Amino acid sequence: MFDILRPFLFKINPETAHSLAINALKFGNIASIKINKSPRIETSIFNEKIHSPIGVAAGFDKNAEVYNSLFNLGFGFVEVGTVTPKPQFGNPRPRVFRLEEDEALINRLGFNNQGCEEISLRIKKNQPKGLLGINIGPNKDSSDRIEDYITCLKKFINLASYITINISSPNTENLRDFHKTSELNNLIKSILEEKNNSNSSIPIAVKISPDLSSNQVEKISQILIDNKIETIIISNSTDRNRESLTNMNRFEKGGLSGKPIEKISNRIINEFYNLVGKQIKIIGVGGVDSAKSAYEKILSGATLVQLYTGMVYRGPRIAAQINNGLIKILEQEGINNINDVIGLKKST
Ligand SMILES: Cc1cc2nc3c(=O)[nH]c(=O)nc-3n(C[C@H](O)[C@H](O)[C@H](O)COP(=O)(O)O)c2cc1C
Repeated sequence: MFDILRPFLFKINPETAHSLAINALKFGNIASIKINKSPRIETSIFNEKIHSPIGVAAGFDKNAEVYNSLFNLGFGFVEVGTVTPKPQFGNPRPRVFRLEEDEALINRLGFNNQGCEEISLRIKKNQPKGLLGINIGPNKDSSDRIEDYITCLKKFINLASYITINISSPNTENLRDFHKTSELNNLIKSILEEKNNSNSSIPIAVKISPDLSSNQVEKISQILIDNKIETIIISNSTDRNRESLTNMNRFEKGGLSGKPIEKISNRIINEFYNLVGKQIKIIGVGGVDSAKSAYEKILSGATLVQLYTGMVYRGPRIAAQINNGLIKILEQEGINNINDVIGLKKST
């Protein structure tokens, strides 16, 4: 069905097409999809069992409106947000661009969302049927960005399975400064202090940029190990790497996602995995659109995998298709569980 609809959907502005998808998920206009479960792809994170390592990346369900429908599509976990303390419109439109020949998107949305108050009330009224991550960030006009993260952390501390500290959107000016040693240390110190004050054991994930040197990767992994951060999400979209693209939108300002960032994110995943091993769990994201590409992320060192752009190009059955494909690959290779192949690919 999606294959028939795709040419029509791709004639519509990408942001409008996304709103249609959210409404279809909200009002249940999606045919129920058969989900195959198998012990081979069952895994666990944060002491919770999940039936699949494939999750929805932040940005798809920014306002936490459709996470339960996404679980019904076969995703093992969903990350909503990025949520900021105050509601925010984001950048002027147009701000999302399809690059069809490149199987990519460029977006410069700028954390458009309804704010932590409204979104927390929505989640309270709609019990998540699976593992829910909430991704938080600062408002554009904030005078104290660390305080913004803390405001959101307090709101969501009892509502999420984990909280993601997003320091890597290319569309909020200077946000990536939090990749620097002293800035990152200060941010993490404040987050851990708040966790401690709230007597909470909520797991924290830090979501990083793919545009990092080996030296930065080394420094960041040391900070995360020192602070016993549970998870790292690798990676957000890139504001570089336009050279190999063909679509005329390639020079639009914003974050590039999809196929062109697959290898870049795999390389950083592998570099981190070689440094942190099993001490920190890696959620791999960037260009996943098939079982093969998901498997490649796990071989590179990811425990779990997320996707966004792949769903735009392959449709709502993508999680079910990847689950089936992974089960097949594992059967063929004689591997009992997906966890047995994490990081098996040695550095390239
Ligand atoms: C339209 C769009 C909006 C996004 N918004 C967010 C966001 O709000 N917060 C965030 O951490 N990542 C956001 N992302 C990045 C994705 O979560 C993901 O890290 C990136 O797109 C790479 O994965 P993909 O190639 O599977 O899309 C967004 C991506 C897209 C395409």
